[in-house]
Amino acid sequence: MSSLRLGRFLLLLLLNHELSLSASRSFSVDYQNDCFRKDGEKFRYISGSIHYSRMPRAYWKDRLLKMYMAGLNAIQTYIPWNFHEESPGRYSFSGDRDVEHFLQLAQDIGLLVILRPGPYICAEWDMGGLPAWLLQKKDIVLRSSDPDYIAAVDSWMGKLLPMMKPYLYQNGGPIISVQVENEYGSYFACDYNYMRHLSKLMRSYLGEETVLFTTDGASLGFLKCGTIQGVYATVDFGAGSNVSAAFNVQRHAEPNGPLVNSEYYTGWLDLWGSPHSVVSSTKVAKTLNEILAIGANVNMYMFIGGTNFGYWNGAVAPYSPQPTSYDYDAPLTEAGDLTEKYFAIREVIKMYRKIPEGIIPPSSPKYSYGAVKMKLLQTVSEALETLSFSGPVESMFPQTFTDLKQAFGYVLYRTELPVDCSTPTPLSSPLNGVRDRAYVSVNGVAAGILERNKVLTINVTGKAGSQVDVLVENMGRINYGKNINDFKGLVYNLTLGNVALKGWTMYSLSIDEAINQGIFWEMITKSSDQLPPTALSLPAFYGGSFIIPDGIPDLPQDTYISLPKWRKGQVWINGFNLGRYWPSRGPQVTLFVPATVLSTDAPNNVTILELEAAPCLSSSCIVDFTTTPILNETVKYHHKQRWAKFRADLFGH
Ligand SMILES: *[C@@H]1O[C@H](CO)[C@@H](O)[C@H](O)[C@H]1NC(C)=O
Ligand SMILES: *[C@@H]1O[C@H](CO)[C@@H](O)[C@H](O)[C@H]1NC(C)=O
Ligand SMILES: *[C@@H]1O[C@H](CO)[C@@H](O)[C@H](O)[C@H]1NC(C)=O
Ligand SMILES: *[C@@H]1O[C@H](CO)[C@@H](O)[C@H](O)[C@H]1NC(C)=O
Ligand SMILES: *[C@@H]1O[C@H](CO)[C@@H](O)[C@H](O)[C@H]1NC(C)=O
Repeated sequence: MSSLRLGRFLLLLLLNHELSLSASRSFSVDYQNDCFRKDGEKFRYISGSIHYSRMPRAYWKDRLLKMYMAGLNAIQTYIPWNFHEESPGRYSFSGDRDVEHFLQLAQDIGLLVILRPGPYICAEWDMGGLPAWLLQKKDIVLRSSDPDYIAAVDSWMGKLLPMMKPYLYQNGGPIISVQVENEYGSYFACDYNYMRHLSKLMRSYLGEETVLFTTDGASLGFLKCGTIQGVYATVDFGAGSNVSAAFNVQRHAEPNGPLVNSEYYTGWLDLWGSPHSVVSSTKVAKTLNEILAIGANVNMYMFIGGTNFGYWNGAVAPYSPQPTSYDYDAPLTEAGDLTEKYFAIREVIKMYRKIPEGIIPPSSPKYSYGAVKMKLLQTVSEALETLSFSGPVESMFPQTFTDLKQAFGYVLYRTELPVDCSTPTPLSSPLNGVRDRAYVSVNGVAAGILERNKVLTINVTGKAGSQVDVLVENMGRINYGKNINDFKGLVYNLTLGNVALKGWTMYSLSIDEAINQGIFWEMITKSSDQLPPTALSLPAFYGGSFIIPDGIPDLPQDTYISLPKWRKGQVWINGFNLGRYWPSRGPQVTLFVPATVLSTDAPNNVTILELEAAPCLSSSCIVDFTTTPILNETVKYHHKQRWAKFRADLFGH
């Protein structure tokens, strides 16, 4: 054979191989027999949700293996756009963001993947996964045919979908189906052109044969705007629901084809200030059994919730943010531990499919590193020069985080009292424009806290010309409903008496970068860590370190940090942002600390930004590392009724 002919022969061989590959690997909807078909065989999935963005990369394998051992044959995951494109065109797909590695692990373990690339994902994730920089067009209509929104979506999908394509089932990968948008029927816009555009976009990158689907709440009202011709309609509902009634709703949109519950709730989300959500194992197992008994496909949301590290939590409207833990009362805990619910679910699955033999990976041991003494480092106002990498911006009236090109965290707004306030004078946000919480001081003395929807006025006193510092915290963007255009910072004027305050200097704070560069550790700590016993003190940084003991095998291990008598703030270990703590509101009291952030080679550095008041009067200026999580402390700030209504509105239970 000439080399040319040999080449052609090899090419034919290759083509044949690819043809036989695609013939042997196929996944489709069988409308005649009301089921899915995989490689030509009747197929039903029993799946669980896991969000790689909510756990360290080093733990992905362990969590997936536990899901496999529970008897699942698939997992479902979201891709949060804002996790991968933090500013336009700057992509990040490495380390904890390496979604390809995650998909590969799932496949290696023997799990298929149901992919939910959004672009909107809800997920109790900041802004439902949409990047905050979309708000640079102030009147953008998100999740619609708005041309600026579509342009951003097209460029993101143009990056993401070609990466996903080799992982499609028919191309040799684990992905059997891909969701278009998320619960679009719950959104006010009802823009069919947008949904058509998305499905066409996905088809153009992923091919005609890929199973695309939508998911909506199990009521006809939701299906109206959520479903679209040519994309398979599925529903979601929780434990205790009337299974046949819920699937009747799906049948309304899909008279034939497999029954699918894309989000079967094993638990529920939490909000700061509302009681911890729990759903009993018995109830979860009972409804799961009903779903499987009629041959339906199911994805359990969540199978493991994980953690909203850093600033990633979302919020519901009327504004109420989710806590750091996304434990969800799921069958695997936030730390990946096995629960009674895990085994109850496994027993149910056992009745319907052969589950893998072998040893289930055990719950990970936790270690109590004990109490760590904390020292005052600097107040935020003192550290301003160090924290403001880009330098201050000045303007007559306040600018938002978006104006300042800051996505997350904290901005300090500074101005002066224009007049003498010798008697208590109201400092207000008459239009409820503090997004979301503002820590106010006058001439270096804490004056009070303004909070979105809750506290719109405080009193201040001081002479004309006194410095007013307003540290504004972004507590997480709304992730559900029509208010997802959630601008942060001071979005309207603050008034003193009836007059808008003017002449602002604004400092974007690069706190995470500063902590990562070890800037605080080079500072001379304050001579005294004894603060006066005030109800409120200035927002300030505190630091402490601890060494992992020698001679104990298998350290470091996971742990939980508890912050007894600390009020509200943010905590980092070795520069890793563990998230927000707010034990004074609850229900979450401890924060999960994965061993992956700890070091045995050097002292472990704990940095705290306490926003209200540190317990540093006496020896109680400590944090504690313990072996048990507390996520269900009684809450001190109730809005239970509103929460109950929100739940009922959403899912009718
Ligand atoms: C469940 O829904 C079905 C169909 O709508 C209905 O016939 C049945 O009575 C319901 N069951 C209960 C317990 O409400
Ligand atoms: C502010 O001070 C006035 C006068 O002392 C008082 O009536 C009012 O209740 C105070 N308002 C707040 C929000 O503390
Ligand atoms: C702030 O107040 C000024 C003066 O009343 C007004 O011109 C401006 O529009 C206000 N800004 C906002 C965001 O409300
Ligand atoms: C903690 O900070 C000290 C002082 O800057 C540094 O030497 C040490 O490496 C840090 N520890 C870790 C684990 O990064
Ligand atoms: C919190 O959960 C623990 C463990 O499940 C339980 O023992 C405790 O009674 C709960 N506390 C509250 C206040 O519900």
